[in-house]
Amino acid sequence: MDKLVIRGGLPLSGRIAVSGSKNAALPILMAAPLIDGGVCYENVPRLRDIHTTLRLLTLLGCETEFEGNTVQVKQANELQFEAPYDLVKTMRASVLCLGPLLARLGRARVALPGGCAIGARPVDMHLSALEQMGARFDLDSGYIDGRCKKLHGAHITFDFPTVGGTENLLMAASLAEGETILENAAREPEVCDLANFLNACGAKIHGHGTSVITIQGVDSLTSCTYPIMSDRIEAGTYMVAAAITGGSLELVNCPTHALEAVIHKLRDMGVHIQDDSDDAIVVTARKTVRCVDVTTLPYPGFPTDMQAQIMALMCVSEGAGTIKETIFENRFMHVQELVRLGADVKCTTRTAFVRGVEHLQGAPVMASDLRASACLVLAGLAAKGTTEVQRIYHLDRGYEAMEEKLRSVGADITRAKEA
Ligand code: UD1
Repeated sequence: MDKLVIRGGLPLSGRIAVSGSKNAALPILMAAPLIDGGVCYENVPRLRDIHTTLRLLTLLGCETEFEGNTVQVKQANELQFEAPYDLVKTMRASVLCLGPLLARLGRARVALPGGCAIGARPVDMHLSALEQMGARFDLDSGYIDGRCKKLHGAHITFDFPTVGGTENLLMAASLAEGETILENAAREPEVCDLANFLNACGAKIHGHGTSVITIQGVDSLTSCTYPIMSDRIEAGTYMVAAAITGGSLELVNCPTHALEAVIHKLRDMGVHIQDDSDDAIVVTARKTVRCVDVTTLPYPGFPTDMQAQIMALMCVSEGAGTIKETIFENRFMHVQELVRLGADVKCTTRTAFVRGVEHLQGAPVMASDLRASACLVLAGLAAKGTTEVQRIYHLDRGYEAMEEKLRSVGADITRAKEA
């Protein structure tokens, strides 16, 4: 297993190009079985979760090719309906093949994702919504076994604006009979990117980006070439990297419009942000950064996927603040590792109380999930001395070439083998 060795305390300076969005690419790739002919995806980040998705598509009967940041997918063989446990257990987003397979084949057998490091994360809302469109589900040997004749339109109100649930339903409803209305739908930019992709293939989706989405089912979807949006969480992470090291970074290919809540919070903390371009942003830590209060919320609120990173910044900011996590019930596993670096953080299950300290002190720490890993790297960049972040396979799931990008702007960070 690999670890990252970081010698902290260097202010970062320079330019970083933001990669394609992992969370947009996953559902958009997973939609491939819905589409007649081949699809060409551009701006796809080279990440472990993307390779897992391509393996799953291959098992389902697609042919895939990944060159540079372009992926070609075409249906080569008869479509299969089973997503095996070995793949699903490594990537919960595999459950996104449920909607496309039911719509295309009337059958989907997908391993139940089970618990994961950041909470129970059930899929009950996905299943209940698909049931309203005519699907039936059995749980059989750890698999969700879904069957339907042709899916039909339905008027569905989600209990919570679930991102994956909304995405599964967008894909299923695109090839269903009649009209589907999704109320209390997720408004995340990645949901919009999926809807824009499906529309580029001939789907009739309206209202994405609002909480009511209408989908008029069509008979078929046809090939297109589609550039995946840039990754707002990767961009947000590097914004914090500039702030936490007292440096200045220009981020290009930056989805500035999708980062409003993060920009707003960082400005409140005293970070200087120049955001007058649609696809570039300059983040400079000019003066002392101070703690604020943060509550994670569905988009357009502050993203849960940036909670760990902003906590790292608060740990070395002036004053004290609270962070409330409202999306996931168990997403503070980075706290005990930050404390190992000298941070002053106390937490209950949903709220963390952070009091800034003058400096963190490097130590070996262990990453527990993707965004927790990013938080520990950020803390390591700010800490005095050497920080070793172990179990960074989590990072490789979601950040393209992170250490190369950080090294190119002056960080002292290397990858090594864990003993
Ligand atoms: C997606 C993102 C993840 C992000 C999250 C919230 C991807 C691949 N992942 O995850 O990075 O942190 O959105 O912005 O895009 N829930 C249920 N029942 C369901 C579905 C969800 O109870 O059927 C709960 C979950 O346990 C969680 C909350 O709802 O507590 C939000 O989940 P959801 O919005 O569905 O997140 P994901 O799509 O899993």
